[in-house]
Amino acid sequence: MREVEILTELLQDFSKIKKDSLIDGQLWRASYTQEDQKTKKYLSALMREKGFVVRQDVMGNLFGQIKGSQSEETILVGSHLDTVKNGGEFDGLYGFLAGIYAVEELVKEHGKPKYNLAVVGLMEEEGSRFTSGYIGSRAIVGALKNSDFEEVDQSGMTLNEAVKLAGGNPLEYVSAKRTDIKAFYELHIEQGPVLEQEGKLIGLVESINGLRILRITVLGRQDHAGTTPMHMRKDALLHASKIISRMDKWTKSTKVASTATVGELLLKPGSSNVVADFVQFTVDIRSSSAEAISNIVFEITLMAERIKVAGLEVKIDVLTDEAPVCLDQILLRENERICKENGHSYCLMTSGAGHDTQVFAPYIPSALVFVPCIGGRSHTPEEEMTETSMKVGIRLLKQILFSKAW
Ligand code: HGY
Ligand code: MN
Ligand code: MN
Repeated sequence: MREVEILTELLQDFSKIKKDSLIDGQLWRASYTQEDQKTKKYLSALMREKGFVVRQDVMGNLFGQIKGSQSEETILVGSHLDTVKNGGEFDGLYGFLAGIYAVEELVKEHGKPKYNLAVVGLMEEEGSRFTSGYIGSRAIVGALKNSDFEEVDQSGMTLNEAVKLAGGNPLEYVSAKRTDIKAFYELHIEQGPVLEQEGKLIGLVESINGLRILRITVLGRQDHAGTTPMHMRKDALLHASKIISRMDKWTKSTKVASTATVGELLLKPGSSNVVADFVQFTVDIRSSSAEAISNIVFEITLMAERIKVAGLEVKIDVLTDEAPVCLDQILLRENERICKENGHSYCLMTSGAGHDTQVFAPYIPSALVFVPCIGGRSHTPEEEMTETSMKVGIRLLKQILFSKAW
């Protein structure tokens, strides 16, 4: 019976949080913004009502904790609270809310856990505001560095200022590091088509693809579009396009499957009759093979050198560099046993999408569990989940956390 009630509450949560996260009709909840603050206020009240002790760390990560009876170690479960621009309502938030409902039900059914249980809502995983991304999870494992706080968003505000304005304490960021975490679990929509194609309701993730995000700046010369002969130009866009137009070829030539995406592009001055002198764009490169990622970066670097020979300047910044990661085999086998014992239809799989789990994995035994999203669509307002997927994910998360913490 409870699953029906939980689902009703969950759908109400999604609808309320979506309303609070709309900017000009589009869903975008970047971290350290008022959309983020409103959502955290709602979620804090929700968790307090359900008996959690609620706190935020100095980087704004939101925790709801249930104290354990026999240990100071903590089982951490959750996902990120931020979204991409014009994003969907389930990416990240589903895993956080599922954590709340699963833990609440377990405490009702079994009383206090042996270990502390903490549900965490992580900051700026997507990097839709601060492109380096994974800021909350990097803070918790102690992987942030001073220079990270100089990164600016598109308004020119630094991460340092944004965290402070949102009530955090960036100077104390090292205190966000936690050493009490015994294991980390993330439940997330798959954001791809595999589970639907396989007819499975659960994906147990064995590995997560590597991700490198470059920001490339090409500086040419501003000129008149009508009077400047083509051979005399230093057209920043024409030369940038020599990199952009080869993404298809370069990804097709890697031995292991890879992707490369130009998701952001800025051009100045931006008049139809002016040759552009400034182009800045991002390249998001993914693969399960670190070598494939490096090969694409090498091709880009080579092309950049040729553009420099033509008399333009090219600057390449590495904004994000997350290696491909294999997830903890012990947790994976435990979760597989639980799936078998409870008759879940599951498959083992890899993740093409990046997740906070890949930040935790080198430091803490970590597991990532997928449920389907309709058509595998994500990072779009058309992102959808069935009620069955929502329920099955919470059911399995309960079974996993019970086996681990009670
Ligand atoms: O981009 C990703 O794969 C993740 O959603 N941040
Ligand atoms: Mn995402
Ligand atoms: Mn996500």
